[in-house]
Amino acid sequence: TSDRFTLTEHLPPDFAEQALRADVRTGLTATPKTLPPKWFYDARGSELFEQITRLPEYYPTRAEREILAREAAEIAASAESSTVVELGSGSSEKTRLLLDALDTAGTLRRYVAIDVSAAALTDAASALLRDYPDLEVNAVVGDFDSHLDRLPDSGDRRLFVFLGGTIGNFAPPERRRFLTAVRARMRPGDAFLLGTDLVKSPDVLVPAYDDAAGVTAEFNRNVLRVINRELGADFAVEAFEHVAVWDARNEWIEMRLRTREAQRVHIAALDLEVAFGAGESMRTEISAKFRRAGVAAELDAADLALTRWWTDAAGRFGLSLARP
Ligand code: AVJ
Repeated sequence: TSDRFTLTEHLPPDFAEQALRADVRTGLTATPKTLPPKWFYDARGSELFEQITRLPEYYPTRAEREILAREAAEIAASAESSTVVELGSGSSEKTRLLLDALDTAGTLRRYVAIDVSAAALTDAASALLRDYPDLEVNAVVGDFDSHLDRLPDSGDRRLFVFLGGTIGNFAPPERRRFLTAVRARMRPGDAFLLGTDLVKSPDVLVPAYDDAAGVTAEFNRNVLRVINRELGADFAVEAFEHVAVWDARNEWIEMRLRTREAQRVHIAALDLEVAFGAGESMRTEISAKFRRAGVAAELDAADLALTRWWTDAAGRFGLSLARP
């Protein structure tokens, strides 16, 4: 299988550590304090996210899977791609629905994935190499929001894929930059498949981010465990409570961590002391929710045309196919 697999590691080995340091310094010295959501996903955080996707309250994964299961053949017929380029490593069932449809249509040749985690990439790749005996797999270690220029270009027709609603974790200016960067990699004939969670009642949205079993709360607090371990910090993790609020003006869910008691946190690797007042909260994630017209407008601003739009039967989640 090794002749069907390449792993390209352009990043210096300490890239993730340096990026974490910079993000933590910037975020914890800002007012109000923030931390970017990408640091949730160490091994434990990824496992907690997997648990979230199975919670009764967390519908996006099931809704997107429903659309893909129903439309994969249609997407494959419309895209006629030989290469799937996945932004953020997907080893998931959802990616396989697409690969299977392209395989059945007879066009599939190559799967390219970009992710910051070499371990996640090699795990995903080995499973795909085993299950798709003719598939070539190119794994690129990089950050999908800043290293799209590192993706190999085999010159064939590509389907770029960004699933899960992860685009909602970007603020609007970052979304614009990201979509423009994706567009810049695309040639005529390429297509872009984008998953977006949709605006709906806060009675549905808030529980999806504040589940009864407390899994999302643990997932949220996990970012503090990552910083304690990786940067020698001493966050009193259990003193932070999980908060999820619907911001109706911005149409996003905001997750926060709020400390009950005042605490001083020492972050050894940064030689930094950070003071939290009693009841102070920091933002750890936004998860924007979309409407069809807004998605079309944001794609259009990046010189991409929305050509197909699907939702699940309950209208909770949107899947867009866009073209340059
Ligand atoms: C992985 C970005 C799709 O924003 O819904 C789940 C992450 N955060 N529960 C989302 C998440 C809290 C999730 N995405």
